[in-house]
Amino acid sequence: MKLRKSTHLVISNFYIKKKLITTVIILLFSQLILAQNPDTFFDKKDLMLVGSYYYPEQWPESNWERDIKRMAELGFEFTHFGEFAWSTMEPEEGKYNFEWLDKAIALAQKYNLRVILCTPTPTPPVWMTQKHPDILMVNAEGRTIQHGARQQASWSSKTYQEYVSKIVTLLAKRYGNNKTVWGWQIDNEPSHYGASFDYSENAQNSYRDWLKNKYKNIENLNTVWGNAFWSQTYNNFEQIRIPNQKELVQQANPHAVLDFKRFNADEVAKFIITQKEILRKYIEPSQWITTNLMPHHSAVDPLRMKDLDFLTYTKYLAEGYDLGHGEQGFRMGSANSIGFSNDFFRAINGVSGVMELQPGQVNWGLFNPQTMPGAVRMWMYHVMSGGNKFVCNYRFRQPLSGGEQYHYGIMKTDGTTVSSSGDEYIGVIKELKNLRKIYNSEVKTPDILFKRKAAILYNPDNRWEMEYQPQTNQWDYISHINRYYNALKSFGAPVDIIDESKDFSQYPFLVAPAYQLLDEKLTARWKKYVENGGHLILSCRTGQKDREAHLWEALFQKPILDLIGAEEIYFDLLPTSLMGKVKMDDSSYEWNNWADVIKAKSNTTVWAEYQDQFYKGKAAVLHRQLGKGTVTYVGVDSDDGKLEKQVLKKIFDTAAVPVMFLPEGVLVEYSNGFWFGFNYSSQIQEIPMPEDAKVLIGKKNLKPADVVIWQ
Ligand code: GLA
Repeated sequence: MKLRKSTHLVISNFYIKKKLITTVIILLFSQLILAQNPDTFFDKKDLMLVGSYYYPEQWPESNWERDIKRMAELGFEFTHFGEFAWSTMEPEEGKYNFEWLDKAIALAQKYNLRVILCTPTPTPPVWMTQKHPDILMVNAEGRTIQHGARQQASWSSKTYQEYVSKIVTLLAKRYGNNKTVWGWQIDNEPSHYGASFDYSENAQNSYRDWLKNKYKNIENLNTVWGNAFWSQTYNNFEQIRIPNQKELVQQANPHAVLDFKRFNADEVAKFIITQKEILRKYIEPSQWITTNLMPHHSAVDPLRMKDLDFLTYTKYLAEGYDLGHGEQGFRMGSANSIGFSNDFFRAINGVSGVMELQPGQVNWGLFNPQTMPGAVRMWMYHVMSGGNKFVCNYRFRQPLSGGEQYHYGIMKTDGTTVSSSGDEYIGVIKELKNLRKIYNSEVKTPDILFKRKAAILYNPDNRWEMEYQPQTNQWDYISHINRYYNALKSFGAPVDIIDESKDFSQYPFLVAPAYQLLDEKLTARWKKYVENGGHLILSCRTGQKDREAHLWEALFQKPILDLIGAEEIYFDLLPTSLMGKVKMDDSSYEWNNWADVIKAKSNTTVWAEYQDQFYKGKAAVLHRQLGKGTVTYVGVDSDDGKLEKQVLKKIFDTAAVPVMFLPEGVLVEYSNGFWFGFNYSSQIQEIPMPEDAKVLIGKKNLKPADVVIWQ
């Protein structure tokens, strides 16, 4: 009996232990999954959740319940609090007030809204800057940026970093296991906006530390920067200042500039990742952490923030800068604006969301037009078609005071009437409910999309280096990339914008546009990719320099000459008033930004040649077979992208991959078993779809800013 009891005990102990161990393993595993696969934060069946920004601190408390209740009644599924509320959270040093936020979160919970909670670090309170003026950033003119707007603090200030740690820790501890808090946004569009770079003493010191860490000794730095040139040699790191054109007679050292851009991007990434690490210490594994970035802001590198669970972006399209397609394009923006951002941000960690989407008219544009009726709805579906997990409207109420008075919200200025763009949000929310019912997780992505799949290889080093040494006033790296991106999208090809950490072999087509800085390792990877059957497309400027932006002590662009089948290359640039001509097959194309004039090897096929200038008859585009794949080199950067598009078309033909022919401004996307057609153009367009397509929303013929969804 005794024995039995003890056996029983042993057995039950064994089971308890086993259960415990299994639970621990499951817990660890689920944490691991959450840490490794951001997809698990979201339910696929939701497709895309829709939310709206709200600022309780900016409205009388008597409005909160009315507004939050209304938000929920209109169908919004989450809200967003806190990124600019530091002075409400900590009105005086060490005197905290979170009760208002507790109340607002409780109201969100009452009405079933999830909350994205933000760290308030873009807006340090005035008491802090008065007590520690050295936390302020300094602009290129040496002017200290003052309290009165936002993002005035230096990311390099240790004092500021300490304040940041304190407030973030308090928030994490207070809300880290609040079930209503869905996820966290760190800071807001960290960028310093127009002021761009910080030249404060804190930043100068941090830059020196960064250089010390990179070069170890000053001789190394002198060599890499080529400091014998113009007697720039340094004796020690303390003598170095951030290269600042405003304090120099002639052009700064390009290597110093490149290092500074890298440093600056590292500095902001560190600022964000440090906050992430604090949050992760205290919050539930089910709460995700992100930040929101402006996709085209060159000084900040989203790739350096991969340690976040995922990245999100912010998007405003009708603001007077982007004139879009055709006469009415300024009311919709360009078709590639959301598209490129989707394909860039999603590719980083496999998941993305849109933290801010324009709600209608804004206040800060070049001019601030009304959006085309339907445009907001079209943008929302475009966001969804890029696989984004959520879209958040900026903002629920139009502010009556403060710096964004003329900025639309879901509500009109009275706070209770839905605005025209608010109506579009609400319409999509309703339609989404039906799409969720139809969603079928079993549906397989059509084969043709795998065949057409393309990647564009991106490295901010190239961008920074060419921004600083463009060689022509007409060089624009993002426009250059977009000429390829737009062509691929007009073929109906899925595109990922990837960095070098990704496996190229997943993509039948790989474009590396103007990949100016490279090393042997990368050219070897490209070669292998092609030999194994990939189609590699390189464009002008590729391979001119090594990773430190030195020209090679060899023939110009030597590392790629064999790969592309060339003997030699030089380049030419034209004035804006003159168009050069290039001939490919039976057509003539115009160029004016950049021309690599190429001497092809005898066994390389010349696809296009120059028709004028003193190098008439010389090669402009080369193509060659290598192993099972092909390499194409496009030496020209045009304005209209027609040549680039024709070259890509010819490559797809060579690879026997059929493509679509979508007119400018028209897009066809596929996501989660749904096909989407979008019309960003100023005319009515017919979306090509199969005879047996089951149209779920809209119709085949789209007026401008309209959408069709089918299966
Ligand atoms: C940006 C900011 C927001 C707000 C909006 C206004 O994207 O992140 O805080 O200022 O613009 O359009």
